[in-house]
Parts: sequence; structure tokens; C-alpha cells
Amino acid sequence: MGINVGGDDRIQDIVEAEHEVYEPPASVVESAHVQKWEEMRAEAEADLEAFWAERAGELEWYEQWDQVLDDGEAPFYKWFVGAKTNLVHNALDRHLKTWRKNKLALIWEGEGGEKRTFSYYALSREVCKFANVLKSMGVKKGDRVTIYMGRIPELVIAMLATAKIGAMHSVVYGGFSTEALAERIEDARSRVLVTADGGWIRGKTVNLKEIANEAVRRSGYVEHVITVKRTEQDVEMVTGRDFWYDDLLGLPVAEQRCETEVMDAEDPLFILYTSGTTGKPKGVLHTHGGYQVYISTTLKYVFDLKDDDRWWCAADPGWITGHSYIVYGPLILGATSFMYEGAPDYPYPNRWWSLIERYGITVFYTAPTAIRGLMRYGDSWPNRHSLSSLRLLGTVGEPINPEAWRWYHKVIGREKCPIMDTWWQTETGGFMITPLPVTPLKPGSATKPFPGIVADVVDEEGNSCDPNEDGYLVIKRPWPGMLRTVYGDPDRYVEQYWSRYADQGWYLTGDSARKDDDGYFWIIGRIDDVLKVSGYRLGTAEVESALVSHAAVAEAAAIGVPDELKGNVIHAFCILRQGVERPSIDKLKSHVRSEMGPIAVPAHIEYVDSLPKTRSGKIMRRVLKAQATGQEVGDISTLAD
Ligand code: WTA
Repeated sequence: MGINVGGDDRIQDIVEAEHEVYEPPASVVESAHVQKWEEMRAEAEADLEAFWAERAGELEWYEQWDQVLDDGEAPFYKWFVGAKTNLVHNALDRHLKTWRKNKLALIWEGEGGEKRTFSYYALSREVCKFANVLKSMGVKKGDRVTIYMGRIPELVIAMLATAKIGAMHSVVYGGFSTEALAERIEDARSRVLVTADGGWIRGKTVNLKEIANEAVRRSGYVEHVITVKRTEQDVEMVTGRDFWYDDLLGLPVAEQRCETEVMDAEDPLFILYTSGTTGKPKGVLHTHGGYQVYISTTLKYVFDLKDDDRWWCAADPGWITGHSYIVYGPLILGATSFMYEGAPDYPYPNRWWSLIERYGITVFYTAPTAIRGLMRYGDSWPNRHSLSSLRLLGTVGEPINPEAWRWYHKVIGREKCPIMDTWWQTETGGFMITPLPVTPLKPGSATKPFPGIVADVVDEEGNSCDPNEDGYLVIKRPWPGMLRTVYGDPDRYVEQYWSRYADQGWYLTGDSARKDDDGYFWIIGRIDDVLKVSGYRLGTAEVESALVSHAAVAEAAAIGVPDELKGNVIHAFCILRQGVERPSIDKLKSHVRSEMGPIAVPAHIEYVDSLPKTRSGKIMRRVLKAQATGQEVGDISTLAD
């Protein structure tokens, strides 16, 4: 398919990396939960349902399932049909019956250096109190609660409290801005919004409440806004609508006991909006039963979590990585998680490394863009710290270039920590193609599918590609952590993921990939109009709609252009309305920032007189991209002009 996401140097590096194999250290192998990964995979494939039933048996259920997998209405698959459960029971309640009651669940550090810790008991108490507050506001099973704040413990508490009472949360990443938030509130029709007065990033505050107020005004569903005090800045509070989190927790209604709502395994747990090929972001829906089994199993086997570990997933709870592997996965496993509020290089480029040393982090999981960013500061920053507590490392979000992989392995892992390069998506709930600690590694390859996952690289017709041939990455069998639908839009669910290979019943990932001679998967990149900028997922359509929402812009096209640090950056091309004054590029950028958020701001904006379009009027981003990257334009026979 000729997809080139990284330029020629990167391709060369990958060709070499294919023959560079890192065997796991004996110490890691000895203590690993799974030693014989190939056998585990074979066992899972031989009887998928038995494999997942056995995994599910490691959790507690109020009532057992009658059927592991119901594919009668495929692609609307159902898992653990008939079972009664609530993920929060497994994440909190069941630990309170054991010694883990007093184990640390969460260690948190603020950007300014404040520290807070929560045992399982304390976390559960805070969750119960807030759950009672939500109930007192009339939030019931099936209702949606939107949560919009920075990386603070109240975010985790709000998610768990919502799930505990059977409502669904929709967490909106704190780096998004007004329009992005308004759109997500509106789509979910949330009556309650939980936010903070502000957030800290690089020593400055972000006006979260101000953005929230404007978004609530635009969307018009929210009846109550609950605000956590974080930055103590002055904010506008609307009488009758707005309440301070702390005030509510002081009310008699905020009792520290709250029954966990009994849910069907297939009842929704959360919606998480993510970018698709076209139009507005879609609400990916996950459920209580299958999701809890899938994320706890993958986390247990891939990162080999044990009771004495200190796990740090340096993502944001506002993305799927945070949902599955900061909040829910570690709690289900009874692990101790660390969460840090601020930027990796604030106030100095050793902030993360100093946190690893101070808290004795044993397993650390981040994104390639962060690794590349910190690599730029040189080895002396990490070398100032003892990182000897580390046992395993991980990465997610975009392909990791072999050079960054080697640096991470050598300088951070001191050549003794295997790197788990986990490929997965918001839609998949958890890791899909990933090494286990015992897997021989190749820098830049996510290696092989997790046991029970049947993945392949296929051509247009669905034939398996030959080794080293690029094709579409598909998943051929259902898995418990799969999304169940697009919230409020089942047709879009079918169309987006299941229509391309409808005859075969395969899930289309939207990524291209290839397998090498050893059957290792190498992810190439997206085949659709989804961009990965610094590992953040964005649609070109979202950037374009933010641009045209400026009064002077008539039409816009956005593309991703490879970038050494960020993976991709956005380039945008705008046609101005007739007779308007041309806004400065900086003005337009700040407009995008305030509508969508900093991650959507194009690195480069250009005013043009026309855009390349097909005769049916579709923008040919491929042509713009070829021009921007100096590549062959390819077939332009459908170009109108
Ligand atoms: C990309 C993030 C290469 C991929 C968990 C996927 C990756 C999209 C990797 C999903 C990886 C994620 N190697 N590419 N290890 N992990 N991706 O929904 O393009 O934010 O389709 O989920 O990220 O992004 P999302």
C-alpha cells in the first residue's frame, strides 16, 4: 500500500531492527506468571471460551454466567451472558475482605510536589462518599456523568463512584477545550459534570472551570456541575447549578457506606470518545463484565504485576490507557499504582526519573513521544538517579522507532528490563498485540497477539499477506474487552469496524501492518484520516471543523506530516471567505486551541485559493500529504481540477 509514516531513515532503521533480537533476562523469566507463552496461545486458540472462562473465574461475580460468548447477533457480541457483577466490586469491595484493605492502592504526587496516598480502604471510603453525593443529585443506573479534570485523585474517585452506582462515565481529557467538551457532553446527554477549578501544567494553571462553564452553556444538558478545588483560582459558580466537591462531601448525605449496584455483565460501564474517520468523535462503549476480565488478564500477564510491585502508567486517565491501566486494571489486581499530575520535564528533565527513584517504581509504562522527548535532553538526567528498582518497561500509542527503543532499553532499563510494546486501541479495551516478559524482543515490533487474540495482516480481498508485505491489520475472533457499540449509533459501529470484511466477520482496526519472517507484527500506521500526534488520537475532521468555526475560514483541510519528536504534526490548508480580513496565523492557531485544545493546534497553517478535490467534492488529503512530504503524488485520475 506504500504507506510511509516515518521517512527513509526510519525505514532503514526498522529493516536493521528486524534482525536484532533481545532475549529476556533469566531473572525476569524465572519469576514470570507465564513461562510458556506459545503454549498458552495454542491452548487459548484451541478453546477460546474455555480460556476466557478460566480467566473470568479469577474474579468474583454476584452470579455466574450461563454462556461465555453469545455471537447470535454478531457483530453485537455478548460476553459472560447472564452473569451479575460490577467492576467496582472486583476493583475495591473484594479487597476490603482481605489484607489488601490496608495496602496502598494509589500514590499521587502533584506537580508542585504535594503527596497523597490512599489505601484500598481509604479509596473505597472516598468513592462511597462521592457515590452517595451523585445519588443524591438523582444520578441513577444508566445515566451519564461527564468528568473533565486534570490528573488528580478525585478524577479516579469520580470514575469509580459513577461505576459503583451503575451510571456510565464519559471522561473528557483535561487537555481538550470548549467545543470538544461541549460536543461530548451533548452526545452523551450528561446531566452532571464533574470538573476542577483548574489544573497545573508546567507551573501554570489551566482554566478548566471557565472552559467547563462555556461548554455547559453551549451544550445545554447539564443540570449540576461539581467542582474540585485544585488551583484555588477565582471561578464563576452559578447558584443552584454549581457546587464545590468539598462542600458536598461535608453533607450528611455523603455517608461512607454505599452498596455497589448489581449490574448485568453486559451493562455499560463507560463511554470514551475517540476520533474516527469522519465527522464527530464517536462514543466507544465498554461494559462491566468482559472488560474487567480482559484488562485484568492482560495487565497481569504482560506486566507481570505482583503484590510487591509499584506500577506507574504515565498516561492520563482521560484516555483509554488511563481507564484500563491506571484506574481499573491495577485496582482489580490489587496493585499499588502511582499517578503524577504534571509534565515529565517540569521543573527539570529528570522529574520522571526522580519519581521512579523516590517511589521505587518497578514497572513503568509510557508513550514513544515522551521517550523521544526525554531522550533529547541526554543521558546525564536519567544517569543522576538510581533506576535499579525497575524490572519491566512498556510503551503504547504509536510505533516506537528502534532508536528510541534502544535508548529506553539501555539508559532507562539499564539493559535488564524487557520492553513491552503494546499495540491496542480505545476500541479493544486492552493490549492486543504485545510481548509477554518472556518473549524475545525486536526493537519497534509489538511482537505477537496476546493469547486468545487472533490477528492477521490481510489484503483487500482478505487473503493473508505474505511475510514482509504491507496490509490491513484485522482481528479475526471476538475478545471480552472489545467495544460493544458506538454510543447512540449502532449503525456506525457496524459500518466503521465490521463492514470492510463483513463476509468473514473480522474487526477492522484501521491500522496497516506487516508480519516478518518470524511472524512478528510491525505496525505501520493509520490507513484512515485519524492522526496520532504525540500519541494522542485526533481526527482530521475535528481539526478542520475547529478551523472553519473561525469566521474568516470558508474551508479547511488537515493532514498529518511525519515528525521526529511527535510522530506526526498537523499541517492545515485554509481557504478564506471572500472579502474578509486575513487573520494572522497565530490568531487562527489560538482559535483552534480554545475550541479543541492544544493537541489539535496545527504546526503549520497555510492560506490557499483551492484544495485538491475529487469530482464528487471530497478533499484528497493524499495529494496534500504528498506535496507536504515531497513524495510522489500517485494516481490523481479522480482529481477534479
Ligand atoms: C496506535 C491507544 C504502534 C495505532 C491505546 C492504533 C500503536 C491507535 C501502538 C489507537 C503501538 C497504539 N505501536 N501503534 N504499540 N499502540 N497505536 O485509541 O494506530 O488512542 O490504532 O489507543 O494508536 O489509539 P488509541
